[in-house]
Amino acid sequence: MTGRTDWASKEIDQLKSEGRYIPIRTIESAQGAYVRIDGRKMLNLCSNNYLGLANHPEVRKAAIEAIEEFGVGAGAVRSIAGTNTIHMKVERKLAEFKNMESSIVFQGGLLANSGTIPVMVGKDDVVFSEELNHASIIDGVRLSSARRVVYGHLDMEDLESKLKSERNTGKKAMIISDGVFSMDGDIAPLDRITELGEKYDAMVYVDDAHGEGVLGSHGRGIVDHFHLHDRVDLEMGTFSKALGTMGGFSAGSRDLIDLLHQRSRPFLFSSALNPGDTAAVLKSIEILERDDSLVKKLWKNSDRLKSGLNDAGFNTGKSKTPITPVIIGDEKKTLELSSALYKDGVFASPIVFPTVARGAARIRLMPSAVHSDEDIALAVEEFRKIGKSIGVV
Ligand SMILES: Cc1ncc(COP(=O)(O)O)c(C=O)c1O
Repeated sequence: MTGRTDWASKEIDQLKSEGRYIPIRTIESAQGAYVRIDGRKMLNLCSNNYLGLANHPEVRKAAIEAIEEFGVGAGAVRSIAGTNTIHMKVERKLAEFKNMESSIVFQGGLLANSGTIPVMVGKDDVVFSEELNHASIIDGVRLSSARRVVYGHLDMEDLESKLKSERNTGKKAMIISDGVFSMDGDIAPLDRITELGEKYDAMVYVDDAHGEGVLGSHGRGIVDHFHLHDRVDLEMGTFSKALGTMGGFSAGSRDLIDLLHQRSRPFLFSSALNPGDTAAVLKSIEILERDDSLVKKLWKNSDRLKSGLNDAGFNTGKSKTPITPVIIGDEKKTLELSSALYKDGVFASPIVFPTVARGAARIRLMPSAVHSDEDIALAVEEFRKIGKSIGVV
């Protein structure tokens, strides 16, 4: 090597000395209640595969059939030769599922945010952005060059006072928030946000990555949960979590989505989502539409997991969704807990700064509809036993 990247070694050493270097595990099996890692069967508590659709037989079959019919690659960007009938079907289905006029599919949730926000606002506009918004929203706002005004986490008084004082600093204004916050599992007060948007003439944009398949009737998401159809301007989401596959989308008015077809950079400059993933998404939505038993099972598992951990003395924060943060605080203790669990066959990854604030280190557990009652009981027992042995409860 040239030696010109030796600075990277120093940064790695620094991360290690601060207990912030995260070992990246390689999964040797399909996603499920258990995964194989290093040849061992591990209880999986950290995938976003909320409903188990990532390895659902019908979803797998749909992907395989699409590959047989259309091949593995989309072949081009959507605007040149990459738009396939399957993309059109998913976009219609999503709009119907979300009760929106229209939708557009992207290759990932991150790309949906970075491709949508800069079309909706630009340098003459102002964005009111939640303090704990996902990194992809922050990137999207940066790319837009709009003026960014940050308001406090779930703090509607702060949002209103900033709207009062700053709304007139831009031509268009937009309030943008995660629907469900991925590190704490709490829910944005979208009903209040919507009222404020109406009062101060600001568009409302919500990232429903962790609400999809989890909140609302049959997992229709946060807008449905709050009954806000027709009052939210843009609902963005991802297929990579509850829907079990890959990709993202934005849903809104027909003309707004049409404009995204003309202007959104990931649509124009990055090749389309491949046929297998696209067909898998379609099947996942069809499964949700016809049956909400997976959503119900997810919530049952999450309630049992939280109450078991609370009884064992753990702090699971203020989550209102299946996301279950086990907040330890100290970075090194969190890594110690995670690696002791790992030795015992429980896969529960640590989350440390900069993903969460310093001193707010945690293990974030993601129960799934594919966990059995026994799996949840085992998870609680392992946390209780190891938590005690290392002195965190
Ligand atoms: C709130 C939120 N938005 C967007 C994304 C990005 O989604 P994707 O993984 O599909 O790129 C994530 C995923 O981590 C997320 O949690």
